[in-house]
Amino acid sequence: MKKFFAPFLFLFPVLLTAQGMWVPLLLEKQNEKEMRSMGLKLHADDIFSNFEPSIKDAICQFDGGCTGEMISPDGLLLTNHHCGFDAIQKLSSLENNYVENGYWAKNRSEEKPAEGVTAVFISRMEDVTALALQGVTVGMAERDRQSQIDKNLAQIKVNAKKEKFEDIMIRPFYNGNQYYLFFTKTFNDVRFVGAPPSSIGKFGSDTDNWVWPRHTGDFSMFRIYADKDGNPAGYAADNVPYHPKRFLPISLKGVEEGDFTMVYGFPGATNEYLTEAAVRQIGEVLDPAKVSIRDRALKIMDGYMRKDPAVKIAYVARYASIANAWKKWLGEMQGLKTYHAFDKKKEYEAAFTTRIEQNPDWKYRYGNLLPRLRKLYEDIEPYAFARDYYLETMVRNNEILGLASSLSGWIGTYEKNGEAFFVSKQKDATSGLPDFYKDYRPEVDQTILAAMLEMFAEHVRPEWGASDVQAMAKEKGGFEALAADVFKNSALTSQAKINAVLAKKPADIVETIKNDPAYKLWDRLQQNYVANVQPKIQELQPQINLLQREYMAAQMVVFKEKRFFPDANSTLRLTYGKVRSFSPRDAVRYEFQTDLDGVMEKYIPGDYEFNVPEKLISLWKSKDYGQYATKDGRLPVAFIGSNHTTGGNSGSPALDARGNLIGLNFDRVWEGTMSDLNYDPAICRNIMVDIRYVLFLIDKLGGAGYLLDEMKLAK
Ligand code: ARG
Ligand code: GLU
Repeated sequence: MKKFFAPFLFLFPVLLTAQGMWVPLLLEKQNEKEMRSMGLKLHADDIFSNFEPSIKDAICQFDGGCTGEMISPDGLLLTNHHCGFDAIQKLSSLENNYVENGYWAKNRSEEKPAEGVTAVFISRMEDVTALALQGVTVGMAERDRQSQIDKNLAQIKVNAKKEKFEDIMIRPFYNGNQYYLFFTKTFNDVRFVGAPPSSIGKFGSDTDNWVWPRHTGDFSMFRIYADKDGNPAGYAADNVPYHPKRFLPISLKGVEEGDFTMVYGFPGATNEYLTEAAVRQIGEVLDPAKVSIRDRALKIMDGYMRKDPAVKIAYVARYASIANAWKKWLGEMQGLKTYHAFDKKKEYEAAFTTRIEQNPDWKYRYGNLLPRLRKLYEDIEPYAFARDYYLETMVRNNEILGLASSLSGWIGTYEKNGEAFFVSKQKDATSGLPDFYKDYRPEVDQTILAAMLEMFAEHVRPEWGASDVQAMAKEKGGFEALAADVFKNSALTSQAKINAVLAKKPADIVETIKNDPAYKLWDRLQQNYVANVQPKIQELQPQINLLQREYMAAQMVVFKEKRFFPDANSTLRLTYGKVRSFSPRDAVRYEFQTDLDGVMEKYIPGDYEFNVPEKLISLWKSKDYGQYATKDGRLPVAFIGSNHTTGGNSGSPALDARGNLIGLNFDRVWEGTMSDLNYDPAICRNIMVDIRYVLFLIDKLGGAGYLLDEMKLAK
């Protein structure tokens, strides 16, 4: 008993923090009391209600992976610059370069249709766990369980009373222990209203990414249009601005240390309830592997980008996206180590074990979970490593093999589904090619291919494909020679060459692509993977998932006094905390707020990450900050808080105690990037751009102050 006293002590403070991404439907039951004690001035049903208009009616999932919010009665939508970036890039040309120069529509007729962009709102949600799990019994075979659930979910969908224009979505929570049903509404006439130049919207770019102090004006603005009845409709010139049931008032009062804040949005994925074995595998095996692969690919890209400005333009978005996850994994693996995540997990598991030892029923039901999970993670480790290695070297970081992989589905239909089907899918399968080739530089990709093949050959087990790659390289005279040979003879290296292939008869298209050296290389590697690695993953992963589901349920039973939030799953969540400075390490303190002086401290004229527009410099010199200044005359830029966020929360509104908009979430601090696996309230912070900086940039820098007329400002 004595031995396990310490773990209990350790658990206690954790229980008292407000970490978590909470289900809005359950706020009243789970969180309202605590939130009000922290400063909230609203009630749970002001934030979420299935019946009355509530703040949730102002929140949408933006373009699949981000969050956006309504800030006017006329459907004005605010999100991050990096969330709107794809749309902005597509609308840009050399003459009208909105990425470079920014843009502001001077009136509604200048708002530009952002084709393909969606905004999804939640109308209602329901707990359907009982129905979803009907007929599911303990000890049921996993496959039977899943097919029973699938049947149940289909029935729930049939019975659900959805309104016109609504869709239905059912999602598992707590690793499949609970199910929730969502009624959603998707708008697709979304128009680009404006954004600052990239030098502001991406200020600090990759160097500052995931890091505090931060000085990025990471926002862009869109407007949702609807048919004349206010319902979703495809783009039509005579569509009208959407009138949401709620929009967010904006506070100009600013934030102070300790102020209550909440972030409302669509966090993508977290894994807070994994075992020590699982987290250790991520932090010590998988993250390091992925980081080292991307390190190599990024360095090569960077070398070419520095030599040639045209390559820089072509690769900047790809570089940013590969670097974003690379840097997060790096921060994650360092953070897990520095802040003792493995020991904490161990202590937690010891506390779990102590409790179940004292209860024969628990011991019988849960006694094997941790040892079995540990064994399974041991078993899967080499395969998981090989899987990540394969995906990173052969798909993610290599464009030509990635392209081969994406064409393979279509090529495969020729034999499976016949020529007519194959022809009918040609347009779908090839419509992305112009976009692909627009920014494709074969010389960059070829160098990366050589490096990736070399890493693969060196790190993957010989019998799982590495010796095959070795042999190919030896035959050609090395990895570079092998890559050169592939590129010399492949038709996948340019739009013109692939066009020539696609103009052939269907049978010849298939024949030519199947014999293309890049396609053949990908196919051979992929076959190695499918034969040697995938079967084991397919055997072990479902066993892990099952036990993880049981371990999740067990934790909720055994630690009855603890509140459990479900891991993020791209559904609407609320997280709350406070504006908070913090100390990442001995003698270092991070203040909670940055300002425009800090932007100018970082300013490097002409630099691609730290340049700023002339006009910003002159506004800074004249201190022309108007109503957006702090009391002491500074212009706030960004601030941090103890809100528990993850990818997908980009663009999420940061709200004050009364539900006024005070900022936009866009990142986390470096020391806390581990928070998807190990949230630590002492060091994990989310980063938000201050709404006063946003309004200043629209008004003073962009000259689009008239947009403020339709907003509701609280001074
Ligand atoms: N790290 C933030 C998020 O995950 C911001 C990403 C913006 N991209 C960048 N390369 N700075 O997505
Ligand atoms: N930048 C992230 C996004 O795109 C949000 C930051 C995070 O991962 O916490 O959603």
